[in-house]
Amino acid sequence: MSEHLTVVDHPLVQHKLTIMRQTETSTAEFRQLLRELTQLLAYEVTRELPLTTTTIETPMESMEAPILDGKKLALVSILRAGNGMLDGVLELVPSARVGFVGLYRDEETLEPVQYYFKVPKQISDRMVIAVDPMLATGNSSVAAIDLLKEAGATDIRFLCLLASPEGVARMKEAHPDVPIITASLDRELNEKGYILPGLGDAGDRMFGTK
Ligand code: URA
Repeated sequence: MSEHLTVVDHPLVQHKLTIMRQTETSTAEFRQLLRELTQLLAYEVTRELPLTTTTIETPMESMEAPILDGKKLALVSILRAGNGMLDGVLELVPSARVGFVGLYRDEETLEPVQYYFKVPKQISDRMVIAVDPMLATGNSSVAAIDLLKEAGATDIRFLCLLASPEGVARMKEAHPDVPIITASLDRELNEKGYILPGLGDAGDRMFGTK
């Protein structure tokens, strides 16, 4: 994947995103749309997944047929909102291994601090897809990718629903080798670090915590 930022402009992606953005969309609808939209984005992000072959019998003859080398994919959720994107990808690639990165913001230093980190073994041999619906300031995304690289990951993609220009710039500066795949590059961040026009707090909207 050579582009640093890919905006998936497929009509189904854009239509579903519009419904998700709307204030009146319920938690149940939001969750379902997030799953569907993630699947459509996953189609794009998994383009270069490694294939292997297996011998199969068609009704006509045997053949060496391509199949996904699913063990080679590690899907990493950036907690907590990333969890809402796991199922969509796993429905497409059920054999993918799954990891989690938990970070919180230290209120004094404003720096992200790790509270949980568990990723599949041999992460250096895998294509890693890090998922977080919102690439906002980019602080937690950059820190999560830092941790993945420290653990040995070298082939990482970042999958999100919405990105801000500030977040994309921050990621490009810190991790120019990590392509970003998103459904929309929104206008800007507000003073609290929320994306505009955005969709609000993705975690609260998917888990109904507000
Ligand atoms: N996280 C969210 O959930 N929403 C934003 O707009 C920014 C960060």
